[in-house]
Amino acid sequence: MTQEQAKKRINELRKILQEHNFNYYVKSNPTISDFEYDLLINELQTLESEFPQFDNENSPSRRVGSDLNREFESFPHRYPMLSLGNTYNREELEEFDQRVKKVVGDEVAYFCELKYDGIAVALTYRKGTFQQALTRGDGSRGDDVSHNIRTIRSIPLHLHGDHIPEDLEIRGEVILPAEGFEKLNKEREKNGEAPFANPRNAASGTLKMQNSALVAKRPLDCLFYFIPGEQKLFQTHHESLEAARSWGFKVPEYNILTHSMSEVFDYIDTWESDRADLPFEIDGVVIKVDSILLQQQLGFTAKTPRWAISYKFRAEQALSRVLSIDFQVGRTGAITPVANLEPVQLAGTIVKRATLHNADQISLLDIRLGDHVHVEKGGEIIPKIVGVDQKQRDPSSKPFRFISTCPECGTQLLRKEDEAAHYCPNETGCPPQIKGRIEHFISRKAMEINAAEATIDLLFREGLVKDVSDLYTLNLDQVKNLDRFGEKSAQNLISSIENSRQVPFPRVLYALGIRYVGETVARKLAEAFLSLERLMEANQEALEEVDEIGERIAQSLRSWFSEERNIHLLNRLKSAGLQMEMDRPETLISQLLTGKTLVISGVFAHHSRDELKTMIEQHGGKNSASISARTDYILAGENMGPSKYQKAQKLGIEIITEEQFMSMLAL
Ligand code: IVH
Repeated sequence: MTQEQAKKRINELRKILQEHNFNYYVKSNPTISDFEYDLLINELQTLESEFPQFDNENSPSRRVGSDLNREFESFPHRYPMLSLGNTYNREELEEFDQRVKKVVGDEVAYFCELKYDGIAVALTYRKGTFQQALTRGDGSRGDDVSHNIRTIRSIPLHLHGDHIPEDLEIRGEVILPAEGFEKLNKEREKNGEAPFANPRNAASGTLKMQNSALVAKRPLDCLFYFIPGEQKLFQTHHESLEAARSWGFKVPEYNILTHSMSEVFDYIDTWESDRADLPFEIDGVVIKVDSILLQQQLGFTAKTPRWAISYKFRAEQALSRVLSIDFQVGRTGAITPVANLEPVQLAGTIVKRATLHNADQISLLDIRLGDHVHVEKGGEIIPKIVGVDQKQRDPSSKPFRFISTCPECGTQLLRKEDEAAHYCPNETGCPPQIKGRIEHFISRKAMEINAAEATIDLLFREGLVKDVSDLYTLNLDQVKNLDRFGEKSAQNLISSIENSRQVPFPRVLYALGIRYVGETVARKLAEAFLSLERLMEANQEALEEVDEIGERIAQSLRSWFSEERNIHLLNRLKSAGLQMEMDRPETLISQLLTGKTLVISGVFAHHSRDELKTMIEQHGGKNSASISARTDYILAGENMGPSKYQKAQKLGIEIITEEQFMSMLAL
């Protein structure tokens, strides 16, 4: 094939595939079989690799993603990405309506849309071709997720139709439809991975994955709802969405134009009761003034438009029955009561268990065995019981009595005065505590050793791993003779353990699982003391001098280091070659801010808050979250909170802008 012929066929294939994508993903009306589609994609990929000179980022072949890993770069938003005011009841919505009518008069049409529960993205197109996709970020800058967005097949990479603006920005919500979500979670559970709590978390986790080939395998979708700058192009919001639809964007059909509040309330009622029938999750509805002229008259507050508001639904509830109550023992020995329920359908999944938190919670709600209870799904994967239906209670039932001994090892439970949880104090002999510590040690943010929960269980049961230091004496023969292990999987485990010897000191410190020493605290401690030895020598006072370390954490560290068995463990880990010290963190760029404490507040035009924090540290300064007499400067962006402003004024603290900050650093 000549270059000319190749170019012609590549363009032809791209056009055909683009049309099939649109038919399949936007119109839900495929016109060829999956097999034929794959053949076309294959042909295109082959030609593109033979003739790389015709490669193009927006080719339909890129929809399958790339294996390359990339960090996300952040870019400023052309228009700030604002959020919406929330209302939870009719009165608040009536108030919104009155506020609107006071400004623009009584003739207002509201456009009602569903509030899609996903991740907001801003897409830009130049001359009808996809350019970039940014996440919301801090509202003024977002992460560039273009590579992952390209894999979402309902998103057009080339627009079609009339009057396409030369520069277009459009906002939408990336979602994972219910069906894809269920499938993904089933797969994850099968592979021993933690399931996602809800489709929104799954969508956001997916969008932030580095490997777009993996993103391409997850059936993300994107629903569009807003064209910033629409005032230049349209007279009404609904026309802008119709145009977006005509250019190839997926704009759901559930929207309506209303002319009275009673129609708005009908719309809300309909979707509050029918939301389970939708193929995706919503968490409310959005009500927008339809006329763009009126929108302009209303304008914006610092954070939200005055012409739109959301009405949030209450969390979905279901009625079930408490069949029995189990007790789980965590890595720290904390006991969590869990109710086993009569299975019931709730927010797209079947619920069989609900957490009861602790003994206080059970007595507060007076939950008894056999009770009919209201279950609600919050942000977490495990639903909670929010109330008991007293009318249906068996009159002979008795208040539930919390256990007094550990269900796993029989040890008498303890309860500290100021804590809600019961604890099993048998740290060294209680199996779930030992296994929990090992699981924490190997987890991704700690030593990153690839072993499933079942493997840890097996190693523990076989007596091969009794504490985390035993991992480093395991050998290939021991592992490959275990149930379900072969030469290859055994080798993988051993090399993964081997690699963990290089994990840097802050993560090793986190991996130890010392109470209250999470990822950030571990990093702060490591950076302050630079070695385990120095950390162990530090007294309470020296520990509390470290940024963010208070009495509680310092005490927990002192007490952990005072236990002889922990010292033995550390010695064994040290001889196994783990990193117990580190070099001084990134050298300072300058000392310009040494001794100065800054508080960052608001949204900035040129840098994200994280970038500003890093700059402060790199120039020797200290970041603090709250204003106090010790604060030297407040670095204020837009929308600095009024209470912060008052406090700063009262304490006479200097407020500086982003520009002033940059010139202080001579940047
Ligand atoms: S309009 C300036 N419409 O809700 C107006 N937002 O709480 C911008 N959302 O950040 C928003 N569905 O991520 C709008 N039909 C819809 C929406 C919607 C979901 C999200 C969006 C926004 C957040 C605000």
